[in-house]
Amino acid sequence: MKQLRRTNKMANEKLNIGIILGSTREGRVSPQVGEWVKEIADKRGDANYEIVDIADFQLPFLGTTDGKEPGIAAWNEKLAELDGFVFIVQEYNHSITGALKNALDFAREAWNNKAAGIVSYGSTGGARAAEHLRGIMGELMIADVRVHPTLSLFTDFENYTTFKPADLHLDNVNAMLDQTIAWSGALKTLRK
Ligand SMILES: Cc1cc2nc3c(=O)[nH]c(=O)nc-3n(C[C@H](O)[C@H](O)[C@H](O)COP(=O)(O)O)c2cc1C
Repeated sequence: MKQLRRTNKMANEKLNIGIILGSTREGRVSPQVGEWVKEIADKRGDANYEIVDIADFQLPFLGTTDGKEPGIAAWNEKLAELDGFVFIVQEYNHSITGALKNALDFAREAWNNKAAGIVSYGSTGGARAAEHLRGIMGELMIADVRVHPTLSLFTDFENYTTFKPADLHLDNVNAMLDQTIAWSGALKTLRK
């Protein structure tokens, strides 16, 4: 009976999904893309969605300090609150940014047994960076979903800076979120 009540409570609780901005550079476009995904996600009402900006945590470069910076603990605490992720991924030299890789390396258990979707952008939709991220997620035991909206720097941005996404991406974002929510819910049962 107690177990049943706990299972029902878990089924009724909304999942917490972090929309993680992968770039931190001055002039980056990732906040525009993250806000767009959050707007679509919030309309669904099926989870608590929040933007998680790596830049806010001021993480040092891994291994170069004594590891006592408050941002490191805060980063792990934030990830621990989340049940799933949507990574906003931009392509830098055919891979993910150094900032995102550093942030991924700064946590371990807080990533494990959770699900993630990817929204990427670049000259070829950020596809090469996204595929690198999938390899990293395997090691971190993050279940990456199949549907993957890819945005073009040439057609979804004006002058490579002002985000003007084509309508066709909307269905893909929702399909990616459907899969992320389903797997985040399923994996939550593993972590209890
Ligand atoms: C260091 C660097 C390397 C880049 N390399 C690539 C690349 O290999 N492929 C690509 O499609 N775009 C590349 N770009 C272009 C970025 O995808 C584009 O500038 C994008 O807006 C970066 O995301 P951000 O504005 O959120 O930082 C590169 C940009 C930078 C700054």
